[in-house]
Amino acid sequence: MTLLSVSNVTTGYGPTVVNRDASLTLGKTEIVTILGPNGAGKSTLLRTIAGLVKPRAGQIIFDGETVTGQPPDVMAKRGVVLVPEGRRIFVDMTVEENLRLGAYTRRDADGINADVKTMESFFPILAAKRNDKGGSLSGGQQQMLAIARGLMARPKVLLLDEPSLGLSPLLVKEIKAIILNIGERFGASVLLVEQNAGLALSVAARGYLMQNGRIAISGPIEELRDMSLMRELYLGGIKETA
Ligand SMILES: Nc1ncnc2c1ncn2[C@@H]1O[C@H](COP(=O)(O)OP(=O)(O)OP(=O)(O)O)[C@@H](O)[C@H]1O
Ligand SMILES: [Mg+2]
Repeated sequence: MTLLSVSNVTTGYGPTVVNRDASLTLGKTEIVTILGPNGAGKSTLLRTIAGLVKPRAGQIIFDGETVTGQPPDVMAKRGVVLVPEGRRIFVDMTVEENLRLGAYTRRDADGINADVKTMESFFPILAAKRNDKGGSLSGGQQQMLAIARGLMARPKVLLLDEPSLGLSPLLVKEIKAIILNIGERFGASVLLVEQNAGLALSVAARGYLMQNGRIAISGPIEELRDMSLMRELYLGGIKETA
Protein backbone atom coordinates (compact mmCIF):
# COMPACT_ATOMS: atom_id res chain seq x y z
CA MET A 1 0.00 0.00 0.00
CA THR A 2 1.36 3.43 -0.95
CA LEU A 3 1.52 5.69 2.07
CA LEU A 4 3.29 8.67 0.53
CA SER A 5 3.23 9.71 -3.08
CA VAL A 6 5.18 12.65 -4.49
CA SER A 7 4.18 13.50 -8.05
CA ASN A 8 6.02 15.83 -10.44
CA VAL A 9 7.19 18.15 -7.69
CA THR A 10 9.16 21.26 -8.58
CA THR A 11 10.85 23.29 -5.84
CA GLY A 12 13.26 26.16 -5.50
CA TYR A 13 14.57 29.03 -3.45
CA GLY A 14 14.00 32.52 -4.89
CA PRO A 15 15.00 32.45 -8.54
CA THR A 16 16.72 29.06 -8.22
CA VAL A 17 14.89 25.92 -9.27
CA VAL A 18 16.12 22.90 -7.29
CA ASN A 19 13.84 19.88 -7.79
CA ARG A 20 12.35 19.42 -11.24
CA ASP A 21 9.42 17.13 -11.81
CA ALA A 22 10.46 14.80 -8.99
CA SER A 23 8.22 11.80 -8.27
CA LEU A 24 8.53 9.00 -5.75
CA THR A 25 6.44 6.67 -3.63
CA LEU A 26 6.86 5.12 -0.20
CA GLY A 27 4.90 2.15 1.10
CA LYS A 28 3.80 1.28 4.61
CA THR A 29 6.84 0.33 6.79
CA GLU A 30 9.00 0.38 3.67
CA ILE A 31 12.58 1.72 3.68
CA VAL A 32 13.38 3.68 0.55
CA THR A 33 16.53 5.66 -0.18
CA ILE A 34 17.34 8.74 -2.21
CA LEU A 35 20.95 8.82 -3.36
CA GLY A 36 22.76 11.48 -5.27
CA PRO A 37 25.72 13.85 -5.33
CA ASN A 38 26.11 17.03 -3.28
CA GLY A 39 23.66 19.73 -4.25
CA ALA A 40 21.39 17.38 -6.21
CA GLY A 41 18.35 18.53 -4.23
CA LYS A 42 17.87 15.58 -1.86
CA SER A 43 17.48 17.66 1.30
CA THR A 44 15.22 20.13 -0.48
CA LEU A 45 12.90 17.31 -1.51
CA LEU A 46 12.76 15.97 2.07
CA ARG A 47 12.14 19.49 3.39
CA THR A 48 9.34 19.87 0.85
CA ILE A 49 7.69 16.63 1.96
CA ALA A 50 7.98 17.79 5.59
CA GLY A 51 6.28 21.09 4.71
CA LEU A 52 9.32 23.33 5.25
CA VAL A 53 9.58 24.26 1.56
CA LYS A 54 6.46 24.94 -0.49
CA PRO A 55 6.50 23.19 -3.85
CA ARG A 56 5.99 25.34 -6.96
CA ALA A 57 4.27 22.58 -8.84
CA GLY A 58 3.24 18.99 -8.34
CA GLN A 59 1.33 17.09 -5.72
CA ILE A 60 2.04 15.30 -2.45
CA ILE A 61 -0.46 12.72 -1.23
CA PHE A 62 -0.11 11.21 2.23
CA ASP A 63 -2.37 8.55 3.68
CA GLY A 64 -4.90 9.09 0.89
CA GLU A 65 -5.13 12.86 1.32
CA THR A 66 -3.60 15.73 -0.64
CA VAL A 67 -1.16 17.53 1.65
CA THR A 68 0.73 19.67 -0.89
CA GLY A 69 2.00 22.87 0.74
CA GLN A 70 0.80 22.01 4.26
CA PRO A 71 3.01 23.56 6.99
CA PRO A 72 5.46 21.44 9.02
CA ASP A 73 3.37 21.29 12.22
CA VAL A 74 0.38 19.98 10.27
CA MET A 75 2.59 17.43 8.49
CA ALA A 76 4.13 16.34 11.81
CA LYS A 77 0.67 15.93 13.31
CA ARG A 78 -0.37 13.82 10.35
CA GLY A 79 2.74 11.69 10.84
CA VAL A 80 5.41 13.01 8.47
CA VAL A 81 8.52 13.95 10.43
CA LEU A 82 11.96 15.14 9.32
CA VAL A 83 15.21 14.31 11.11
CA PRO A 84 17.26 17.07 9.50
CA GLU A 85 20.76 16.99 8.09
CA GLY A 86 23.24 18.07 10.78
CA ARG A 87 20.95 16.81 13.58
CA ARG A 88 19.91 20.28 14.84
CA ILE A 89 19.52 19.24 18.43
CA PHE A 90 19.31 21.96 21.07
CA VAL A 91 22.75 22.08 22.66
CA ASP A 92 21.71 23.99 25.80
CA MET A 93 18.75 21.74 26.58
CA THR A 94 18.99 18.36 28.25
CA VAL A 95 18.62 15.10 26.37
CA GLU A 96 15.17 14.59 27.89
CA GLU A 97 14.07 18.13 27.02
CA ASN A 98 15.22 17.57 23.45
CA LEU A 99 13.21 14.34 23.33
CA ARG A 100 10.08 16.03 24.62
CA LEU A 101 10.39 18.75 21.97
CA GLY A 102 9.83 16.02 19.39
CA ALA A 103 6.32 15.61 20.79
CA TYR A 104 5.44 19.29 20.33
CA THR A 105 2.34 18.55 18.30
CA ARG A 106 0.97 16.07 20.87
CA ARG A 107 -1.20 16.78 23.89
CA ASP A 108 -1.31 13.29 25.47
CA ALA A 109 0.97 13.80 28.50
CA ASP A 110 0.79 10.15 29.60
CA GLY A 111 1.61 8.91 26.11
CA ILE A 112 4.52 11.34 25.85
CA ASN A 113 5.93 10.19 29.22
CA ALA A 114 5.61 6.57 28.12
CA ASP A 115 7.34 7.33 24.82
CA VAL A 116 10.27 9.02 26.61
CA LYS A 117 10.74 5.73 28.45
CA THR A 118 10.42 3.77 25.20
CA MET A 119 13.09 5.92 23.53
CA GLU A 120 15.35 5.50 26.54
CA SER A 121 15.07 1.73 26.29
CA PHE A 122 15.53 1.69 22.50
CA PHE A 123 18.50 4.10 22.76
CA PRO A 124 20.11 3.19 26.14
CA ILE A 125 22.72 5.93 25.79
CA LEU A 126 19.90 8.49 26.01
CA ALA A 127 18.80 7.05 29.37
CA ALA A 128 22.35 7.27 30.68
CA LYS A 129 22.63 10.89 29.51
CA ARG A 130 19.04 11.95 30.29
CA ASN A 131 20.04 15.07 32.26
CA ASP A 132 23.11 16.01 30.25
CA LYS A 133 23.07 18.94 27.85
CA GLY A 134 22.58 18.01 24.20
CA GLY A 135 25.80 19.82 23.35
CA SER A 136 27.83 17.45 25.53
CA LEU A 137 26.91 14.40 23.42
CA SER A 138 29.21 12.95 20.78
CA GLY A 139 28.20 13.14 17.12
CA GLY A 140 26.82 9.61 17.17
CA GLN A 141 24.88 10.22 20.36
CA GLN A 142 23.45 13.43 18.93
CA GLN A 143 22.31 11.48 15.87
CA MET A 144 20.55 8.92 18.08
CA LEU A 145 18.91 11.80 19.95
CA ALA A 146 17.80 13.39 16.68
CA ILE A 147 16.23 10.13 15.50
CA ALA A 148 14.60 9.50 18.88
CA ARG A 149 13.26 13.06 18.92
CA GLY A 150 11.72 12.43 15.50
CA LEU A 151 10.13 9.21 16.73
CA MET A 152 8.59 11.09 19.69
CA ALA A 153 6.12 12.57 17.19
CA ARG A 154 4.87 9.00 16.52
CA PRO A 155 5.54 9.34 12.80
CA LYS A 156 4.13 7.16 10.07
CA VAL A 157 6.93 8.40 7.82
CA LEU A 158 10.37 9.30 9.14
CA LEU A 159 12.44 11.39 6.73
CA LEU A 160 16.09 10.78 7.60
CA ASP A 161 18.59 13.22 6.08
CA GLU A 162 22.14 11.82 6.11
CA PRO A 163 22.07 10.14 9.52
CA SER A 164 25.56 8.67 9.02
CA LEU A 165 27.27 11.96 8.22
CA GLY A 166 30.52 12.30 10.16
CA LEU A 167 30.12 9.04 12.09
CA SER A 168 32.73 6.30 12.50
CA PRO A 169 32.12 2.95 10.74
CA LEU A 170 31.16 1.41 14.08
CA LEU A 171 28.50 4.04 14.70
CA VAL A 172 27.28 3.73 11.12
CA LYS A 173 26.60 0.07 11.91
CA GLU A 174 24.58 1.11 14.96
CA ILE A 175 22.57 3.59 12.91
CA LYS A 176 21.99 0.87 10.32
CA ALA A 177 20.54 -1.47 12.97
CA ILE A 178 18.31 1.32 14.25
CA ILE A 179 16.98 2.15 10.78
CA LEU A 180 16.26 -1.52 10.10
CA ASN A 181 14.27 -1.70 13.34
CA ILE A 182 12.18 1.44 12.97
CA GLY A 183 9.45 -0.29 10.96
CA GLU A 184 9.03 -3.21 13.31
CA ARG A 185 9.40 -1.27 16.55
CA PHE A 186 7.55 1.94 15.69
CA GLY A 187 5.52 1.05 12.60
CA ALA A 188 7.04 3.87 10.58
CA SER A 189 8.28 3.95 6.99
CA VAL A 190 11.67 5.50 6.33
CA LEU A 191 12.72 7.74 3.47
CA LEU A 192 16.49 7.84 3.79
CA VAL A 193 18.83 10.32 2.13
CA GLU A 194 22.42 9.12 2.31
CA GLN A 195 25.85 9.90 0.91
CA ASN A 196 27.00 6.60 2.35
CA ALA A 197 25.82 4.36 -0.47
CA GLY A 198 26.95 1.25 1.39
CA LEU A 199 24.57 2.01 4.24
CA ALA A 200 21.69 3.06 1.99
CA LEU A 201 21.99 0.01 -0.28
CA SER A 202 22.12 -2.33 2.70
CA VAL A 203 18.93 -1.12 4.42
CA ALA A 204 16.60 0.06 1.66
CA ALA A 205 14.25 -2.06 -0.44
CA ARG A 206 14.08 0.47 -3.26
CA GLY A 207 15.98 3.55 -4.26
CA TYR A 208 16.00 6.70 -6.32
CA LEU A 209 19.07 8.39 -7.75
CA MET A 210 18.73 12.15 -7.90
CA GLN A 211 20.82 14.29 -10.21
CA ASN A 212 20.42 18.01 -10.76
CA GLY A 213 17.09 17.96 -8.99
CA ARG A 214 15.63 15.20 -11.16
CA ILE A 215 15.09 11.55 -10.40
CA ALA A 216 17.52 9.98 -12.89
CA ILE A 217 17.07 6.31 -11.99
CA SER A 218 14.78 4.34 -9.70
CA GLY A 219 14.25 0.70 -8.92
CA PRO A 220 14.66 -2.19 -6.50
CA ILE A 221 17.89 -1.95 -4.55
CA GLU A 222 19.47 -5.03 -6.19
CA GLU A 223 19.02 -3.41 -9.58
CA LEU A 224 20.54 -0.16 -8.41
CA ARG A 225 23.45 -1.98 -6.82
CA ASP A 226 24.20 -3.78 -10.05
CA MET A 227 23.57 -0.93 -12.38
CA SER A 228 26.76 0.05 -14.11
CA LEU A 229 25.34 3.44 -15.00
CA MET A 230 24.65 4.11 -11.35
CA ARG A 231 28.22 3.16 -10.49
CA GLU A 232 29.52 5.46 -13.17
CA LEU A 233 27.26 8.30 -12.15
CA TYR A 234 27.54 8.08 -8.45
CA LEU A 235 28.81 5.05 -6.61
CA GLY A 236 32.28 5.07 -8.16
CA GLY A 237 33.42 7.97 -6.03
CA ILE A 238 31.86 6.84 -2.79
CA LYS A 239 33.57 4.79 -0.13
CA GLU A 240 31.27 2.05 1.10
CA THR A 241 31.58 1.76 4.85
CA ALA A 242 28.49 -0.12 5.97
N1 LIG B 1 17.94 27.82 1.82
C1 LIG B 1 18.46 27.83 0.58
N2 LIG B 1 18.48 28.96 -0.17
C2 LIG B 1 18.98 28.97 -1.41
N3 LIG B 1 19.50 27.89 -2.03
C3 LIG B 1 19.54 26.75 -1.35
C4 LIG B 1 19.02 26.65 -0.01
N4 LIG B 1 19.19 25.37 0.43
C5 LIG B 1 19.77 24.71 -0.61
N5 LIG B 1 19.97 25.52 -1.66
C6 LIG B 1 20.57 25.14 -2.95
O1 LIG B 1 19.74 24.15 -3.52
C7 LIG B 1 20.51 23.16 -4.17
C8 LIG B 1 20.15 21.78 -3.62
O2 LIG B 1 20.51 21.73 -2.24
P1 LIG B 1 20.16 20.51 -1.32
O3 LIG B 1 20.63 20.88 0.04
O4 LIG B 1 18.73 20.15 -1.48
O5 LIG B 1 21.06 19.37 -1.97
P2 LIG B 1 21.49 17.96 -1.38
O6 LIG B 1 21.30 16.98 -2.47
O7 LIG B 1 20.82 17.71 -0.09
O8 LIG B 1 23.06 18.17 -1.14
P3 LIG B 1 24.03 17.58 0.01
O9 LIG B 1 24.34 16.19 -0.42
O10 LIG B 1 25.23 18.47 -0.05
O11 LIG B 1 23.31 17.64 1.31
C9 LIG B 1 21.97 23.54 -3.95
O12 LIG B 1 22.43 24.20 -5.09
C10 LIG B 1 21.92 24.49 -2.77
O13 LIG B 1 22.95 25.42 -2.83
MG1 LIG C 1 21.44 17.46 1.80
